[in-house]
Amino acid sequence: MGKVTIDYRDYFAETIQQMCTQGLLLVSADKDKKPNVMAIGWGMIGSIWSRPAFIVFVRPSRHTYGLLEEVGEFTVNVPPNELAEATTYCGTVSGRDHDKIKEKQFTLVPGRKVRVPIIQECIIHYECRLLHKNNVLADFLDKNFKSEVYPKGDFHRIYFGEILTAYADDEAVKELG
Ligand SMILES: Cc1cc2nc3c(=O)[nH]c(=O)nc-3n(C[C@H](O)[C@H](O)[C@H](O)COP(=O)(O)O)c2cc1C
Repeated sequence: MGKVTIDYRDYFAETIQQMCTQGLLLVSADKDKKPNVMAIGWGMIGSIWSRPAFIVFVRPSRHTYGLLEEVGEFTVNVPPNELAEATTYCGTVSGRDHDKIKEKQFTLVPGRKVRVPIIQECIIHYECRLLHKNNVLADFLDKNFKSEVYPKGDFHRIYFGEILTAYADDEAVKELG
């Protein structure tokens, strides 16, 4: 199954749909290139500073957070429906205690433009380089909303990744339904 370069807007609907249902897989790596994968359900694709961007929200308690701080690159991978259970697993256990890539038998392929790999079994890929980050600020959140989404604090850090390239397995995307 070949992966062809796409415009970052080509599979916007499919990407958001998978993100809001089963989640996407964010791959990061430390400076020695040791990779980790986590599920993300909160994120946005858009255009900012005249650049295509994938914006992701990662809590400081995640192992991924330290890796993003160490290496300002990541890939976002859209899993096919068959990987729903594996995606949930990647959103349930931490890379601090588990080698999720080995356990879920993901095949890693080097990124085309970033040092972080992609997951071959996924069907749409976005390679991102960090442009900016900031924090969700407790004082600026609606009060009721704050207790609903952040009962224990652990406010997300927001990472703005410039999409350097995006590619997909067009045939597999058509099968998403
Ligand atoms: C479907 C799904 C979506 C998730 N979305 C996010 C998210 O957007 N941001 C976040 O910080 N954690 C999110 N999580 C939780 C992390 O994926 C989870 O804590 C994971 O174990 C972190 O892995 P790590 O410690 O290896 O980085 C999500 C979990 C699931 C199951």
